[in-house]
Amino acid sequence: MKIQAINGFKDILPDSVVRWQYIEQRARDIFERFGMQEIRMPILEKTELFVRSIGEATDVVEKEMYSFADKGITMRPEATASIMRAFIEHGLHVQQPVQRLYTIGPMFRHERPQKGRLRQFHQLDAEIIGAVEPRVDAELIAMGQMLLDELGLSVSLELNSLGCPVCRPPFKERLVAHLEGISTGLCEDCRRRRHTNPLRVLDCKKPTCRELVQDAPSLLESLCSNCDRHFHEVEEALSLLGIDFRRNRFMVRGLDYYTRTTFEFLTSDLGAQAAVGAGGRYDGLIEQLGGPPLPGIGFAMGMERIALLLEQQGDAGLPATGADIFLAALGRDTVAPCSLLAHLLRREGVRAAIDYSGRSLKAQLKQANRQNARFTLIVGDDELARREGTLRNMATQEQRPVDLSGTAAEQCQRLIRVLRA
Ligand code: HAM
Repeated sequence: MKIQAINGFKDILPDSVVRWQYIEQRARDIFERFGMQEIRMPILEKTELFVRSIGEATDVVEKEMYSFADKGITMRPEATASIMRAFIEHGLHVQQPVQRLYTIGPMFRHERPQKGRLRQFHQLDAEIIGAVEPRVDAELIAMGQMLLDELGLSVSLELNSLGCPVCRPPFKERLVAHLEGISTGLCEDCRRRRHTNPLRVLDCKKPTCRELVQDAPSLLESLCSNCDRHFHEVEEALSLLGIDFRRNRFMVRGLDYYTRTTFEFLTSDLGAQAAVGAGGRYDGLIEQLGGPPLPGIGFAMGMERIALLLEQQGDAGLPATGADIFLAALGRDTVAPCSLLAHLLRREGVRAAIDYSGRSLKAQLKQANRQNARFTLIVGDDELARREGTLRNMATQEQRPVDLSGTAAEQCQRLIRVLRA
């Protein structure tokens, strides 16, 4: 029996890795333009960290975590909680009052796998800790938008506010009373959530529930004056930066730590998995985890979803890959000098490929094409005797002689001049 990867866990093969590296490189570039620094945390954390931050009555904690129950540890389902744990543990705020941190890596959730939804998936996660100004919310959202724009992806941005401990509890009471009246029509999950996590009923994706909550009270219209001002200032700051958005009063998010601003970047090109990225403010979280009373805001983007979108639109912008030069050593005596030449070229930063098998020219040119080589240097026994090789431009198929006299180091320098011309 062949052993295969676990359902929902996927290999990223070399052809796709190019796309992943491109996404990562663009993300790092943009995050660093915004003064963000990378942080890397372990994949395993104490289960309690996620229970206390994401919330006991969330899908993630209730049914999606990969936990080792006997050891009390869990494979991180997201990065925010781990970043906060590290932030508190190392007292990062003492060094710098506002911390801008990002991380890139795998997360684990036991969801039903489908297109764009995996059990091991990868996030680009960015957090700004210690700043409460609405302009920071707009700046962070604009950073996410800039990344998606520069990757050439078109998404829509939805915005909401989830209020704070002042305005949310009275709203919840009104909502629960309203849900009481429509409970018979709600799906089974929502009937349960009505008691455990009533706000989540508002963003149930089932058409009947959606229809039923249309007349539910709106948190956006029930915000306290501070949250209301914050929301309007975020909207103004976004408009100033030229970021388009749409209010969505039904957006609740599946994690409990959010306060005030929440947002999602959505696409219509991935079927059911519409969210390319999402995030929001979590002003009480750090204190709740035993740290100082500092606010925070962040987002995470799903790399599988970004990669799928890039692929769907023909991988525009992806850098060309492949060898700069393929050395086709044709005769028995040519393999050794060609291998030395390849080594010297590589030492000079050239991507040099070589085939040691001594196969026919036709086979080696085929191999050169497979490796996407720009040039092939053809060296046969006769040519070696004449101290001359043939350089073939693989795109135009033009061939010209190249001087192979002198030492290997001299040949190498001469070739580099030709390649870089
Ligand atoms: P989230 O909405 O749970 O938020 O996930 C963020 C993004 O991760 C989603 O929009 C989606 O693109 C991707 N994602 C989530 N689950 C999966 C999955 N099973 N398969 C593939 N992609 C997935 C968070 O994780 C928060 N920590 C975001 C945040 C950061 N909020 C504040 N700071």
